[in-house]
Amino acid sequence: MGARKVDALNKRTSKSGLRKTVPRAWRGEVDHILIHEEEIQDRVRALAAKIARDYRGRDLVLVALLNGTVMFLADLIRHLQIPLRLDFIGVSSYGTGTTSGEMVFTKELRLDVKGRDVLLVDDILDTGRTLKRVGATLRKLKPRSMKICVFLNKESRRVEDVSADYVGFEIEDYFVVGYGLDFAERYRNLPFVGVLQKHVYSNGK
Ligand code: IMP
Ligand code: MG
Repeated sequence: MGARKVDALNKRTSKSGLRKTVPRAWRGEVDHILIHEEEIQDRVRALAAKIARDYRGRDLVLVALLNGTVMFLADLIRHLQIPLRLDFIGVSSYGTGTTSGEMVFTKELRLDVKGRDVLLVDDILDTGRTLKRVGATLRKLKPRSMKICVFLNKESRRVEDVSADYVGFEIEDYFVVGYGLDFAERYRNLPFVGVLQKHVYSNGK
């Protein structure tokens, strides 16, 4: 079961024939919907089923990165019908907008992951700098295994040698918002994944 590939042609209608019109509230800022709410729900459910099969009988600890994983994580775990523990790591970069800067840990891991099966969850795998750094930190804690699950993957942007074991959707090099993903801390609450209009970036808000 491979990740769904989303491209520009997916812009107007989804595979299921859903019309992809931007809700009125966001029409002034969001150019188009890249991944529709219903497509997300179907895909996340399938991803959870795969993870549940792979981790049945294991000692799973989900480690989610704050803040971008909020929606993805909530949807994923409600469909994960296996025992698990859950913890969070806070990482923040000083950069604002679409570029990342210096990385700081804003919340440390509290659970003991030694000898356990860790699944690191993030919103998007872009250059790979974040997951490379967090992955290295976690490995020092000697988990039995460590895998990576991301909602979105932008393969073409990769700088670091890091890959995800579970991917929701493969996307091209767009800056996207919604379903947890932000632009300058906004738009995390959109239930879909959208591409912003150009004027939003140039305002710098
Ligand atoms: P990386 O360290 O370059 O892989 O970037 C990972 C982080 O950058 C993600 O956790 C996001 O917070 C942010 N990011 C990368 N691409 C996007 C995007 O298209 N929209 C919103 N945030 C993004
Ligand atoms: Mg972010």
